Amino acid sequence: MNHNGSRVLEILKANLGKTISGETISSVLEISRSAVWKQVKALREKGYRISARSRSGYCLEEEPELLDQNALAEMAIIYRESVESTNLVAHRLAEEGAPGFTTIIAERQLSGRGRLGRSWFSPAGSGLWFSVIFRPTALTPAAARPVTLVTAAVLADYLSGTFKLPVQIKWPNDLQVGGKKIAGILTEVKGDLDRIDYLIIGIGLNVNQKTEDLSTEIATVATSLAMETGIKIKRTELLINLRHALIRAYKLFEEEGFTSFRQIWIKNNITLGQQVNISWPGGSLTGLATELTNDGQLAIKDDYGQIRLVSYGEVS
Ligand code: BTN
Repeated sequence: MNHNGSRVLEILKANLGKTISGETISSVLEISRSAVWKQVKALREKGYRISARSRSGYCLEEEPELLDQNALAEMAIIYRESVESTNLVAHRLAEEGAPGFTTIIAERQLSGRGRLGRSWFSPAGSGLWFSVIFRPTALTPAAARPVTLVTAAVLADYLSGTFKLPVQIKWPNDLQVGGKKIAGILTEVKGDLDRIDYLIIGIGLNVNQKTEDLSTEIATVATSLAMETGIKIKRTELLINLRHALIRAYKLFEEEGFTSFRQIWIKNNITLGQQVNISWPGGSLTGLATELTNDGQLAIKDDYGQIRLVSYGEVS
């Protein structure tokens, strides 16, 4: 943060919860009104909730819950304030030889990526946007495929246990509470048909967003841990614990396979037993979701009673 930015922040913090005019800030700091506005904009991008009213001025609504860089460094988690996408950074680090389980977290992503080419809204100060590099040594690409389901199972299990929330998995790996999305997973692979070089598992978890932080469009389909529990959550601690749970799970998955995670996935899912429509680029299928196979495919009984297996797509 530059010098003017810290001085503007200092004044706003001294007036926490109160509105102070742009004019006052500009005359105290001897900078122009537009310079004040520029700093307010930059602070907002860092995750500070500052409301602006055209006549009365600026108000820092509350102390932000920013990621604790020191605590992250102690756990060897790589922190960046702002990146295009943590998955992209993770790819670069992996190409440079970063070891397995290297983790990168960003306060904000400028072009967060979602599944099926979608974008993932990742503003500062509210979510956990992170990627883990996984370098399995003993898994073929086919055997590694359920890793995303393993991730979903671990997240659902951890979040429902910790926050006493019904976090449910919608096949393959959307995490929802009450039908609204709370987290998504984007797994990317580098390798060839026979061998995995590395996997990047990117996780986006909505943590401290409030209803007013979401656009009307997003609010109808998404929620956050804070919205569901009514409490403000310490994101740094949550990340450290989640990462720990994930690494333990990836090691176990590599040693023992998908079986035990399959049970956890099934216990927390909302897709099995439902009449579903699954679509993927180039096709779709309607039927009853009857089973999750040992290798993580969804078995669908179509209208002719035929069982079809799907490993990729979107359920509606
Ligand atoms: C989905 O579409 O449900 C998957 C969303 C995955 C978003 C996360 S945020 C951290 C990581 N970096 C990205 O660009 N995407 C993933």
